[in-house]
Amino acid sequence: MSIYLDHAATTPIDPRVKEAMDPYLVDAFGNPSSIHTYGRDVRAAIDVARETIARSIHAADPSEIVFTSGGTEADNMALRGVMVEARSSGKKHLITSQIEHHAILDTCEYLEKLGFEVTYVPVDSFGRVYLQDIQNAIRPDTALISIMFGNNEIGTLQPIREIGEFAREREILFHVDAVQSLGLEEINVGDLPIDLMSISAHKIYGPKGIGALYVHKKVKMMPQMFGGYQERKRRAGTENVPGIIGFAKAVELRMQERERYREHLKQLRDELFRDLKVKQIDFVQNGHAEQSLLHIVNLSFPGIDSETLLMNLDIAGIAVSSGSACTSGTIHKSHVIEALQVGEERADSAIRFSFGQSNTIKEISYVVNILRDTIQRLSRT
Ligand SMILES: Cc1ncc(COP(=O)(O)O)c(C=O)c1O
Repeated sequence: MSIYLDHAATTPIDPRVKEAMDPYLVDAFGNPSSIHTYGRDVRAAIDVARETIARSIHAADPSEIVFTSGGTEADNMALRGVMVEARSSGKKHLITSQIEHHAILDTCEYLEKLGFEVTYVPVDSFGRVYLQDIQNAIRPDTALISIMFGNNEIGTLQPIREIGEFAREREILFHVDAVQSLGLEEINVGDLPIDLMSISAHKIYGPKGIGALYVHKKVKMMPQMFGGYQERKRRAGTENVPGIIGFAKAVELRMQERERYREHLKQLRDELFRDLKVKQIDFVQNGHAEQSLLHIVNLSFPGIDSETLLMNLDIAGIAVSSGSACTSGTIHKSHVIEALQVGEERADSAIRFSFGQSNTIKEISYVVNILRDTIQRLSRT
């Protein structure tokens, strides 16, 4: 049996998405910047895709969508683009949270090296950011607040409306990383006070290497890539045409099927918690029980090392993720679980389960059985 429970890392391409992309891999290969028919046909398809994505988040105008190579580039573009632009008006301060994705945190670190200043607001033990902390961090030279919609490791949702309203009052730009939330949560930039928002296709059954930054018309942003007139000079480079077409198809499907998908995820989530209790497995949840993305459940199993558990589950054909990232043989602890300040042991034993459309209740039951057996075995050693 092979069970994939790592959909927050990436999802497979939906066959309907692949079908939409296929013609743009071979037949419709023109460069959208070319003025002949080959180019114009592809340009028209990109325009439609841009409209679909803009409509799905209720953007006022399709030109507010800037295609990027994914969520990481969108995050980089937002922070660097806004901060470099803000410098000309004497602003150099940015506020973010301690539990953002590394695409944000590492960009902040880079910006600090360039002389910008960053405040990293803390979170509570459930991973929630408090408006009060943001209010306290504000300075006259604050240009931008960047807070994620929902966390990729523990799922916790943030008070986006509250933070955005405060930012608008103070005329501070507000960026939201919605990479994990797109297609799951109601994201309406026409209603929510969001100025910039990062999204990515491969978390919603679209292709890898394509994403977008929503940029409200009023936002001035310095481009980070030069060399052409694409994306209204905000992101030079020949467009990833099959990627863009696939992204739009994935977005369209998620919009049509969102309620059904949410229901499916809720059932899987409830079943996991129910079965863990029935089988008397000792666990503690990292993150918020209710204010959470539906596809992410992060649990710590007291006394069990997450890396060992992950490897044992992998041997049993179950793919999950631990909070820690392994780079060049060094294991880094999850900065997210650490920020919850719930003790080192919980960080060392945290496992992220993330569900998707192909998972079944039967699979959950199998996973919990394997978990019980593995934990019992590891506890004895
Ligand atoms: C919250 C969040 N932001 C940004 C990214 C980066 O997106 P991409 O993989 O498209 O570069 C991810 C991917 O895991 C994410 O979960």
